[in-house]
Amino acid sequence: MCGIVGYIGTRQVVDILLNGLEQLEYRGYDSAGVAVMGENKINIYKAEGKLENLSSELLIHKDEYKNSTLGIGHIRWATHGAPNVINAHPHTCNCGRLVIVHNGIIENYKELKAELEKKGAKFRSQTDTEAVAHLIAYIYNDTKDLTEAVRLATKKIEGAYALCVMHSDKKDELVATKRNAPLLVGVGDDEYFVASDVPAIIPYTKRAMYLNDNQIVTLTRNDMTLIDAEGKELPKKVETLPWEPVALSKMGYKHFMLKEIHEQPDVIRNVLVGKLHSAQTPIKLDEVKLNKDTLKNLNRIQIIACGTSLHAAMIGKYIIEDFCGISVDIEASSEYIYRKTVTDEHTLVIGVSQSGETADTLTAIKQAKAKGSHVLIITNRPDSAMAREADSLIPVNAGIEVSVAATKSYIAQLVSFYLLAIYMAEIKNTMSSKALYEIKSEMMLVPQKIEQILSHKETIKQCAQHYANTKDFIYVARGINYPTALEGALKLKEISYINATGYPAGELKHGPIAMLDESMPVLSILMKGSVYEKLLSNSEEAKARNARMIALTNSKDEKLKDLFEYIIEVPDIQELLSPLIAMIPLQLIAYYIAEYLGKDVDQPRNLAKSVTVE
Ligand code: AGP
Ligand code: GLU
Repeated sequence: MCGIVGYIGTRQVVDILLNGLEQLEYRGYDSAGVAVMGENKINIYKAEGKLENLSSELLIHKDEYKNSTLGIGHIRWATHGAPNVINAHPHTCNCGRLVIVHNGIIENYKELKAELEKKGAKFRSQTDTEAVAHLIAYIYNDTKDLTEAVRLATKKIEGAYALCVMHSDKKDELVATKRNAPLLVGVGDDEYFVASDVPAIIPYTKRAMYLNDNQIVTLTRNDMTLIDAEGKELPKKVETLPWEPVALSKMGYKHFMLKEIHEQPDVIRNVLVGKLHSAQTPIKLDEVKLNKDTLKNLNRIQIIACGTSLHAAMIGKYIIEDFCGISVDIEASSEYIYRKTVTDEHTLVIGVSQSGETADTLTAIKQAKAKGSHVLIITNRPDSAMAREADSLIPVNAGIEVSVAATKSYIAQLVSFYLLAIYMAEIKNTMSSKALYEIKSEMMLVPQKIEQILSHKETIKQCAQHYANTKDFIYVARGINYPTALEGALKLKEISYINATGYPAGELKHGPIAMLDESMPVLSILMKGSVYEKLLSNSEEAKARNARMIALTNSKDEKLKDLFEYIIEVPDIQELLSPLIAMIPLQLIAYYIAEYLGKDVDQPRNLAKSVTVE
């Protein structure tokens, strides 16, 4: 997490750093800071909390940095040390002449710190990062070569990092490097930009070079040199980014989350374009690079992901098994990477990630690749580290998602899974032509059905406000909508901090039912189909324990009125597609509760959109 930026050129640096950090604020917002080259020394400005606090701090000092054209900046998602000003980056060595910003975790910082303290380093913060500042400074004092000092220091560092380094001796130099954390260099005319992600540089230049692990780049105002970990000079691969500057506008909505919820019908249309032409024609998915014979014989898939993407993966498992008869395992990436997983060249491994940068998932897919598996990535960021690792890449085309709580990217991931499952079923011949026709024709109607929900939000809003003051919330479902219950609960937890949990309804009686009483809202995702009656019975059981019952349903069954306090009706849809519809009111419930409680909907506490640490 964290966002880092750097600039060397001819323009006023502070504006560029602040604009860049604003674009990266999705990566963290515990604190922010910048360091800029002054006439005789490097000036550092920091503030706790969001970027706006740093902007106010900088206004007070504007005369100090108005001529400065070299600097680095950081927004933090704290891993080591509380989110306060002392721990905010940039960090420095004892004398303050060497300054760094860091994204990642230095795993051996305690050992480094002990060693450096013996040499006289005075640590001021609780961060792991500060050890790197002292380390580079000590080496620099011998070498007087900043690039060489960074190179030698990285040999001693264990863990993940993207680093940007400056020294007050070097008024025309910026050094950057990375290992298992994203970093790219934007190339302008007599200026260079360094950033964790494209949006920070795209307003200035479309020419960029992605750094590979262990490469070190040295930037001066009119030159750039790239070396590997052994100091060997490397050719520079500057590419043109397929991006336009993104206007991060709420388009009149109060929050990005609400805007992104409303974008979902168009997002689905975008995902389907070029892939699902009509109910009669086969799905076209050229992105899948496995040959058809391999696909025909494929009998094992693993899907790895985190958070919301993991919930999409769970639905992926359900439909791939149902449509294609292929056995699918799913696992949280953070668990997958620390055990002996049985993965080989006969297993298709699917990584799912909005950002394409999530460290746990990135490590997991690298492991699977090393074991010979074909790795298929489903991501919203075709320019991400995971996309670069992919053997097959399905971009989900949801557009930039700003709100930390994922909404439209989840729906786009689900639609991608439907396309993939149907594509494989058509190759393996595992679905009847009637079933194929029905599912494809109904998929094309999903955007309209979501539009119907979005144009009648009043009941959902009322319902949300009615339960907003609860401390706990239970979501229950069965079958294909069990992951919907998990995702509904995750949305509520993330943005309202209410203790929400999703359960398979049949599990209630095995323990959670003990928590039910007249204060507990229980929301049943009651979509018509194979488990409807069973879920209805489970809802009766909860009602008998006095729980406050809410139904989310596509049924018009009159008897629901006796059982539920609130009924949220959604358009009818076949069971296998129902997660696409059922999720929308749950996103809205989470949104309206958080908004009613006055929470920071788009930037909830403790979270960040891109989690680049394990
Ligand atoms: C989503 O609302 C969450 N903020 C979070 O769970 C997220 O889904 C998770 O961190 C995985 O991110 P990714 O999809 O970018 O890999
Ligand atoms: N580990 C560093 C800190 O806690 C950087 C954190 C990060 O990149 O998320 O400040």
